[in-house]
Amino acid sequence: MRFSLSSAASSSLLALALATVANAVVSPKVFIVDFYDDEQNIWHGIPEFNITARKIALPGLSMQYPNIYCTANYSICQLVVGEGEINAALSTLALVLSPLFNLTSTYWLLAGDAGISPKVGTLGSVTFAQFAIQVALQYEVDAREKPDSFSTGYIPQGTDALNTYPEYIYGTEVFELNDALRQKAIAFAKTATLNDSTDAQTFRKLYANDAGYAAALGTPSVIACDSATSDVWWSGKLLGEAFENTTNLFTNNQGLYCTTQQEDSAVLEALLRGHIAKRVDFTRVIEMRTASDFDRQSSSMSATDNLFNGQDAGYEIAVQNIYVAGVKVVQGIVNGWSTTFAKGVKASNYVGDVFGSIGGTPSFGPGSIFNGVGETLVANTTIADATTNKTARSNSPALRRRYAGSRAL
Ligand SMILES: *[C@@H]1O[C@H](CO)[C@@H](O)[C@H](O)[C@H]1NC(C)=O
Ligand SMILES: *[C@@H]1O[C@H](CO)[C@@H](O)[C@H](O)[C@H]1NC(C)=O
Ligand SMILES: *[C@@H]1O[C@H](CO)[C@@H](O)[C@H](O)[C@H]1NC(C)=O
Ligand SMILES: *[C@@H]1O[C@H](CO)[C@@H](O)[C@H](O)[C@H]1NC(C)=O
Ligand SMILES: *[C@@H]1O[C@H](CO)[C@@H](O)[C@H](O)[C@H]1NC(C)=O
Ligand SMILES: *[C@@H]1O[C@H](CO)[C@@H](O)[C@H](O)[C@H]1NC(C)=O
Ligand SMILES: *[C@@H]1O[C@H](CO)[C@@H](O)[C@H](O)[C@H]1NC(C)=O
Repeated sequence: MRFSLSSAASSSLLALALATVANAVVSPKVFIVDFYDDEQNIWHGIPEFNITARKIALPGLSMQYPNIYCTANYSICQLVVGEGEINAALSTLALVLSPLFNLTSTYWLLAGDAGISPKVGTLGSVTFAQFAIQVALQYEVDAREKPDSFSTGYIPQGTDALNTYPEYIYGTEVFELNDALRQKAIAFAKTATLNDSTDAQTFRKLYANDAGYAAALGTPSVIACDSATSDVWWSGKLLGEAFENTTNLFTNNQGLYCTTQQEDSAVLEALLRGHIAKRVDFTRVIEMRTASDFDRQSSSMSATDNLFNGQDAGYEIAVQNIYVAGVKVVQGIVNGWSTTFAKGVKASNYVGDVFGSIGGTPSFGPGSIFNGVGETLVANTTIADATTNKTARSNSPALRRRYAGSRAL
């Protein structure tokens, strides 16, 4: 396909003009966020709704996926961000800042496939995360050059030990999502009959002789478990365990490492910035990932067997189950709009990032750098200055610890 910038620009101007003429800024109830074409296409041509009824070219989206799709009444829309952290963050932010959309009441359904730990789930399973962890945001030395006393070459930044909370914190290490909303999404997804295949069933049997991998042998199910983001597509027992340990460390042992993917933390950072800009409600985000492959080999395989030969058996059902389970979540929100979802689902857990940027105090990491007040402080010049004020910082043990490693000092 040849993509013409000038035609994209003029069609987005046209869309803007049409929206202006109709005096209609679009306010979707649900935005489905996918990452690439197969995940996109599984929603097209479905009986429940026609998401390709509207097509809006938006400046700033991925060159591969330059259009937003929506139903005729714009209640349900779809964004495809492109793969990897950079594409995911930029595409999401382009939408968040677009004047064509009013996203203040929109629910976000991140809907992609992923690797999964055979300790927690199996091919075709549908997972809903409370925590997203950017697991490779660490120091790394090649494992062939690591000290013998280290179990991995990944070392938390700003530390010289594996089990120490990172000292250099960038803000995207951990996101915590609204668990009350997650439980509603899980309940909706559980009404679906998940797809399975004989290919997946055959592949799962390779894990039959491994203690600890009983979950790999089951049939697809809906699971509450957490998700690890990294640009690196890793495979293997040792990296799997290393990032499982990172998940435990970064979340203060609250996260349950299960799915592995390359975008979610990036999408979440863009949505969180949208919340701070008062364009998005970060308590309305659902992170769903379906399992297409295992993150590690069974004892009868090598790490590269898993990578080179283990990616296909569960792929088809993982993509199908994005739609099979996800459509129940979308319909649940749209059908329950006036009774439940318009007003929002109140979170009882902390929701936000490791900085406490939108208020509250994270139950992981070194605590809020905004003293629980969050976004009001981000917008408050006086206090914002204080966070870059060395005198103020040196008087605050928490800030001192947090900024100790900042190279900008
Ligand atoms: C808008 O369209 C969706 C999906 O096609 C449908 O479920 C919903 O009822 C419609 N909403 C309104 C207000 O017409
Ligand atoms: C969905 O809408 C598009 C645009 O109007 C149309 O081309 C397509 O045929 C519709 N799909 C279905 C399944 O109705
Ligand atoms: C955005 O949408 C919400 C609810 O959908 C509405 O209450 C609000 O007035 C809208 N804001 C603007 C600027 O249109
Ligand atoms: C993960 O942590 C456990 C417990 O500290 C440790 O025994 C194991 O070696 C670690 N695994 C890796 C790969 O770092
Ligand atoms: C689920 O599997 C059934 C049986 O193989 C198939 O007919 C159906 O199309 C699949 N669902 C999707 C969404 O592909
Ligand atoms: C924000 O800054 C103003 C001064 O510009 C100050 O009076 C106010 O207390 C600050 N807000 C908070 C929440 O600290
Ligand atoms: C820096 O912080 C100190 C201690 O809170 C305060 O006395 C001083 O006025 C601040 N300086 C600036 C430039 O804001």
